[in-house]
Amino acid sequence: MSATSEDSEFDVVVIGGGPGGYATALYGASAGLRMAVVERQKVGGTCLHRGCVPAKEFLETASVLRTVAGAKEFGVQAGQPAVDFAVSQGRKQKVVDQLWKGLAGLLKSRSIVTFEGSGTLLPGRRVEVLTGDGPSEISGRHVVIATGSVPRTIPGFDIDGRLVMTSDEVLALDALPASVAVIGGGAIGCEFASMFSDLGSQVTVLEALPTLLPGCDADVVNVVARSFRKRGIAVHTGVAVTGHTPGPTGTTVAFGDGASVTVDAVVVSVGRRPLTEGAIAEGTGVATDARGFVVVDTYQRTTVDGVWAVGDVVDTPQLAHVGFAEGIVAVKGILGEPVVPVDYGRVPWCIYCHPEVAFAGMTEAQALQAGIDVVVKKDPFGGNSRARIVGETDGLVKVIAERLPDGRAGRILGVHMAGPWVTEQLGQAYLAVNWEATPDEVGQFIQPHPTLSEAFGESVLALTGRGLHVG
Ligand code: NAI
Repeated sequence: MSATSEDSEFDVVVIGGGPGGYATALYGASAGLRMAVVERQKVGGTCLHRGCVPAKEFLETASVLRTVAGAKEFGVQAGQPAVDFAVSQGRKQKVVDQLWKGLAGLLKSRSIVTFEGSGTLLPGRRVEVLTGDGPSEISGRHVVIATGSVPRTIPGFDIDGRLVMTSDEVLALDALPASVAVIGGGAIGCEFASMFSDLGSQVTVLEALPTLLPGCDADVVNVVARSFRKRGIAVHTGVAVTGHTPGPTGTTVAFGDGASVTVDAVVVSVGRRPLTEGAIAEGTGVATDARGFVVVDTYQRTTVDGVWAVGDVVDTPQLAHVGFAEGIVAVKGILGEPVVPVDYGRVPWCIYCHPEVAFAGMTEAQALQAGIDVVVKKDPFGGNSRARIVGETDGLVKVIAERLPDGRAGRILGVHMAGPWVTEQLGQAYLAVNWEATPDEVGQFIQPHPTLSEAFGESVLALTGRGLHVG
């Protein structure tokens, strides 16, 4: 749609229709604001089209394959399973397209006007919308910048989509490479390493820092590292990648002190950078920092009155649900309502590799570093009935509480989990951390038996000083 005079003025114009942008639009519309979204591709952004959703869909394919491959153990004869990746790709696309159509319909049903074009913020809270028909201009009493991020690359690794890929290209593959080097063992690297390995590729992970999943609790990292090792994934940590030399079929990646690995494809997952090119015109006064992030305060206000920014374009955890939360904070600010900024130290994190990782709040190391004396309890899934039943016993739940002067456990500071379906178990742990609840309070609540969530309940009960299965 292109702008016409009657729909060129809005309460809020949002530039970018990813999770940060569409959440802002939906929440604003729910509050009665007249909202516009400018999006040059499809609403849904990286998360829906090139990130979270397609990646998790492929990880589910890997999970189905594992289940079928392990069926014999349950007495279910299913034969030797194989993957037809073109079919997997088709299913992924169907899931994405259904969600995309649903989202587009939802925006429309809330009377949010979507402009299909590139948006550029001009001075005076005007936004130029560039479509195939040329430029037009709209304006808002407020403008929200939600232009997101793109994968970072490293020198010497030009992305060609065949030998060298980022997450963008991996998620569009229609055949699996037989061997892959994953550069970067963070969230994306571990998810792809896990997925490729489960689907039958030989995987090597090359991580610059001393551990996989830097920033995660050490016990959780150990669970993932052990599982990767058991499944034959080669993990090299503390290594610099120095370049690659293409050969007749694949390429040889050099790393560390003269080591190398020859693979069919390389996946570069070394973080994402903010995307602001073309989105902010000269003279608007919107400041960006040295790394290109739009500078905001805790209320998502940029350096210009009436201009806000949310999502991956600001320097906060690059998570879709953090974008949602920042959109809500911005809209409340626009409405002049009381607002509680996002508490970035306690947001929920979910990483969907196998075994899954989920956490909220401080790691044990972070608490100790902050000078907080702690009490810690851990419940391994090996002793959990449901984990035994489903046959997924790798992992644990670890609950970290501050130590009170009398030695008892006080406020719950962090909950860190690795294991089966922990991404779906994080909810109550997240509430406990963010409510600053104590084990005495949370320990009273009953966990259904047999469930995986008992591991959290057992750990918390043990923190009261008296546990059932956890001492
Ligand atoms: P990341 O920052 O999580 O991890 C990048 C990793 O690459 C780091 O461990 C870093 O030490 C390593 N690295 C950087 N340069 C390197 C080099 N030259 N050689 C070897 N290793 C190098 O970034 P990632 O995984 O690309 O994800 C991007 C963003 O998206 C992150 O903020 C991440 O949290 C978010 N994300 C979250 C997911 C989730 O929560 N499930 C899933 C995917 C992404």
